[in-house]
Amino acid sequence: LLDIKKGDFEKTKAQHARNFTFFDAPVGLIFTINRGLEIGSWLDFGTFMQNVMVLARSHGLETCPQAAFATFHKVIRNHVPLGDEDVVVAGMALGKADWSQAENTLITERVPLEDYVRFHRG
Ligand SMILES: Cc1cc2nc3c(=O)[nH]c(=O)nc-3n(C[C@H](O)[C@H](O)[C@H](O)COP(=O)(O)O)c2cc1C
Repeated sequence: LLDIKKGDFEKTKAQHARNFTFFDAPVGLIFTINRGLEIGSWLDFGTFMQNVMVLARSHGLETCPQAAFATFHKVIRNHVPLGDEDVVVAGMALGKADWSQAENTLITERVPLEDYVRFHRG
């Protein structure tokens, strides 16, 4: 959609870097989880993030969950007061979508239910 050809590393890098301005959204969220929590809590955390995204929609807002932030937790620590026990999981852009932007017109495909659910009837 952005006319970035495979192998065009300059444009790819520049587009990836847009993550770190939250794609110009007015609100940027950083999600952290306590280091002591185990895998079940990470699953809970995923559902929590999804709830934030669904709730945003109910307020007429859009989000973009951004795993890209996790790699840069050290940089984030210079800007956001985080404890040693806080692990950066992801960022999230929050705001009103600009539907005139090409990247916001992407509609991803969904595989049919039968492709990922097995029905076992007794
Ligand atoms: C766990 C997770 C991490 C993601 N990380 C990024 C990211 O770092 N940068 C980004 O631009 N989009 C990221 N995305 C957003 C996907 O690119 C987005 O889901 C995709 O545009 C498809 O949108 P849709 O799920 O609404 O169809 C992430 C999505 C998920 C679920």
